[in-house]
Amino acid sequence: MAVSFEGKTALVANIDHGDGTGVIDEEAEFDSPETVEAIAASLRKSGLDVTVIEAGRDLPEKLKAEDIRFVFNIAEGRGGRDREAQVPALLSLLDIPYSGSDALVMSLTLDKAMCKRFAMSFGVRTSPFCLVSPGHENDIPEMDYPVIVKPNAEGSGKGISEDCIAQDRDELTAMLKRLFADYKQDMLVETFLSGREFTVGLLGTGDDVQVFPPMEIVYEHPTQGDYCVYSYKIKKEFRKHVHYECPSDIPEALTEMTEAARTIFNALGCRDLARVDFRMDKDGCPCFLEINPLPGLAPNYSDFPMAAEAVGLSYDDLIAAVAESALSRIEK
Ligand SMILES: Nc1ncnc2c1ncn2[C@@H]1O[C@H](COP(=O)(O)OP(=O)(O)OP(=O)(O)O)[C@@H](O)[C@H]1O
Ligand SMILES: [Mg+2]
Repeated sequence: MAVSFEGKTALVANIDHGDGTGVIDEEAEFDSPETVEAIAASLRKSGLDVTVIEAGRDLPEKLKAEDIRFVFNIAEGRGGRDREAQVPALLSLLDIPYSGSDALVMSLTLDKAMCKRFAMSFGVRTSPFCLVSPGHENDIPEMDYPVIVKPNAEGSGKGISEDCIAQDRDELTAMLKRLFADYKQDMLVETFLSGREFTVGLLGTGDDVQVFPPMEIVYEHPTQGDYCVYSYKIKKEFRKHVHYECPSDIPEALTEMTEAARTIFNALGCRDLARVDFRMDKDGCPCFLEINPLPGLAPNYSDFPMAAEAVGLSYDDLIAAVAESALSRIEK
């Protein structure tokens, strides 16, 4: 797929150079040099003149020095719950058009609890939850157990450890104390959904958005005690633990998921690409887990390119289509 744009393009990324402190998922959200190169190669094949720029504090100077006119943004940011919004906000300030969602969407979606409340206000089903701040481990409302505990503002399975399912309130309190020590942020406690798990990719913007068929994450065996959880560790070695299918045996539930994904995407004002995760409750009703406006784009690894492949869209065509969707916003 050819993309027409004359100016220089930067692929802006936070790259995992493998020099973290050794904490298992510390740089989980950063992209590998191989992923960055794969995206750059696809953009070049589509006809764009591409330079890779790392999203550090010197980003404004680098963008200026290279005379960048368009950014393909995959930067996860430099920390804090607004981290994914940092690069979009900067690009807006500098009047440089970019791919993907803006700073508001990035901030809202990184806060899982806030995003669940937002989704609920549009009638989208999500599992019952509460948000617990450090020091409040003993103030937990009545909930149905088991529950799953996850950091409220992380992604890529970060913080979703071996030890994130609690069977009762005492277990939950002890678990929260441990997790607060590691993650120093609010924890989202959700009723555990024991049903089938899906992810839905979206490509494009507004009325033109293409919603891919729900892709099921099918577990080969329980991954945590009796439970199945798509954690960072499982994602890392996914071929051993899961396979992926686009099923057709639950037509109503599939339609409900694609419609819910479209509703959330458009209500938030997402642009160009996103992935929405769902899991069914024990009665087979799909519940919204979260939306990722910066879905992983690692070839042959990330769910979003796999979901695209299932509808016959190659990796090169997917990357070109994201760029094309973003470039269509530039007044010609
Ligand atoms: N309420 C829940 N019930 C059952 N399983 C859940 C629930 N919430 C999360 N999980 C499991 O944990 C996984 C990760 O959760 P979630 O998608 O919220 O986190 P994430 O780290 O942001 O993921 P991503 O890697 O997609 O960014 C899910 O894919 C699912 O397997
Ligand atoms: Mg997820």
